[in-house]
Amino acid sequence: MEKIKIERNTSPKTKPDPTKLGFGTYFSDHMFVLNYDSEVGWHDPRIVPYGPFSIEPSAMVLHYAQEVFEGLKAYRRADGGVQLFRPQSNIRRMNESCLRMSIPTLDEDLFLEAMKQLVLLDIDWVPSEPDTSLYIRPFVFATEPHVGVHASRQYIFCIITSPVGAYYPEGMNPVKIFVENQDVRAVKGGTGFSKTGGNYAATLRAGEVAERLGYAQVLWLDGIHRKYIEEVGSMNVWFLLDDEVVTPPLGGSILPGITRASCIDILKYWGYTVSERLLSIDELLAASAAGSLKEAWGSGTAAVISPIGDILYGDKKITINSGKIGALTQKLYDFLTGIQWGRIDDPFGWILKLN
Ligand code: COI
Repeated sequence: MEKIKIERNTSPKTKPDPTKLGFGTYFSDHMFVLNYDSEVGWHDPRIVPYGPFSIEPSAMVLHYAQEVFEGLKAYRRADGGVQLFRPQSNIRRMNESCLRMSIPTLDEDLFLEAMKQLVLLDIDWVPSEPDTSLYIRPFVFATEPHVGVHASRQYIFCIITSPVGAYYPEGMNPVKIFVENQDVRAVKGGTGFSKTGGNYAATLRAGEVAERLGYAQVLWLDGIHRKYIEEVGSMNVWFLLDDEVVTPPLGGSILPGITRASCIDILKYWGYTVSERLLSIDELLAASAAGSLKEAWGSGTAAVISPIGDILYGDKKITINSGKIGALTQKLYDFLTGIQWGRIDDPFGWILKLN
């Protein structure tokens, strides 16, 4: 593995108020960078001061969106140490995304080493207020200056980090979700399972409609039948129907969430039946009318476990658990975040302590 060079930032920034972080606004003092050229492969790993890139206006990412990214977090334990949650899963998923987008894959060991060294160098940026963490955003983008449509022969892989609080301003208060029935996010065979920017760009219009109506996020239906529930762009979704915990199956069009996989393992560990099955919006509305829809929540790295309080589909609106967080949602949140922040023992081997 090539040694990572380090150029320290000589003008560190003033850190933001840790009680007012929000999500994704502040960035730490350093970033990791690695270049790719088809002649030499990935080369020149380095940690440098956080700052702008200089790329050509013809850089392919700006025209054809050849780009992938990841999201994971570093957590501050009560003893002051810092730890990562399932970083290998993010590394593997990023390489899956690369394969889908014709981007050369990354060396897993170098990727992990880069994250460790970057977080350790900016360790003072890992906040310690309750529910805060350092969000790690690795991404790769195509830089070859060329506007013909083919895979780029040059890329930059970069990792930036951002101290964050809750993703939704609502915090642990249930979010309101708008079911989109015009636009679709993804279809099987497309790129829905990969973390590529275009998947998110395609959701922005519906997001604006939802916001205008006072809804926080969009719930996507499948692109073919327009009836099966898929995901909420920033998180996977879950429903408690009587005693059955239901989440849509991975079928190529939804993101294979690492928090989703963790919830499945935790729920099974507790003895719940978890059904990864198709759930139509009509079945959900009927379950609500029959009183069997007990709880709903979303799961994601950024969103953690976010209770869902209201769902709007056309002119039909349902309220779940009287708009309050449900007992299972709360229990899952407490257990998952307990492992992530090191408050409880990790029975699954998910934690990687950095110090
Ligand atoms: C994450 O949960 O890390 C995500 O990538 C969701 C969103 C912020 C894009």
